[in-house]
Amino acid sequence: MMKLNYASKEIANGNFHVKMNADTQIKEIEEIFVSFNQMVAELKSIEMMRNDFVANISHEFKTPLTAIEGYATLLQDNELEDDERLQYIQMILDSTKQLSTLSSNILRLSKLENQDKVTDKTLYRLDEQMRQVLLYFEKTWLDKELELILDLPKTMFYQNENLLMQVWINLLSNAIKFTPPRGSIQVTLIKRETEIMVSIKDSGIGMTQQMIKHIFEKFYQGDRSRSKEGNGLGLALVYRIVCLCNGKIQVNSELDKGSEFIVTFSTYDSS
Ligand SMILES: Nc1ncnc2c1ncn2[C@@H]1O[C@H](COP(=O)(O)OP(=O)(O)OP(=O)(O)O)[C@@H](O)[C@H]1O
Ligand SMILES: [Mg+2]
Repeated sequence: MMKLNYASKEIANGNFHVKMNADTQIKEIEEIFVSFNQMVAELKSIEMMRNDFVANISHEFKTPLTAIEGYATLLQDNELEDDERLQYIQMILDSTKQLSTLSSNILRLSKLENQDKVTDKTLYRLDEQMRQVLLYFEKTWLDKELELILDLPKTMFYQNENLLMQVWINLLSNAIKFTPPRGSIQVTLIKRETEIMVSIKDSGIGMTQQMIKHIFEKFYQGDRSRSKEGNGLGLALVYRIVCLCNGKIQVNSELDKGSEFIVTFSTYDSS
């Protein structure tokens, strides 16, 4: 674990040449070393290694890495009860999941930043896609007892379905995350002659004008104490995708009242 600590510090200093020796007695730890090495190898190949970007990545890595290190150290105690052991392993797996989400979002973003054209467009049902995303989050909104207000008329849409999926997943995950239990979320699809609009509106914690200015920046998170989950990459991804698809994104929000994100695409876009 000393080695993992050393390796993460090296990454924090921008040295992406570190590699962990994956030989260890504990299977779970070995898996972590292997995925750690994969992640570092992937990071090495990313071009957008500006200084502030490296600093942000390192910062985001530290929390889960520290947790992994801590619980792995605890696991080395031979006298642990079974339930304690399982609990520590679960904590390690949760942190590993966080690391893998982080690295896949960074990779997605870097790929999108190097792309200037949308490929693989198909004609598909946008309203069905919205229902699919809502279903994907079903457990979360049911647990939070959120009221869903849907207005999703049948709408055909010509776009890259996978990219758009990421837009809706991120916007909806934010709406759900930043809305307290028993709040409401409204998803509306409006089809006009020349444009298609999707509005995702929540009755959540809202944002100040100052926050709104920064939400599309990589790694920006409004209020750390209120939003511990995530890395602040969701809206950066959304913004990049919407731009690539020649769309527009608009935000209306008021602190403690709620937020609305409106995404608009022209139906005449033939690119
Ligand atoms: N619906 C919303 N209501 C209130 N605040 C929001 C909402 N959507 C985004 N924000 C603010 O914008 C910030 C950036 O959002 P973004 O989706 O990029 O990051 P995140 O959700 O914190 O992390 P990640 O998306 O990486 O899991 C959030 O941390 C939050 O402060
Ligand atoms: Mg988000």
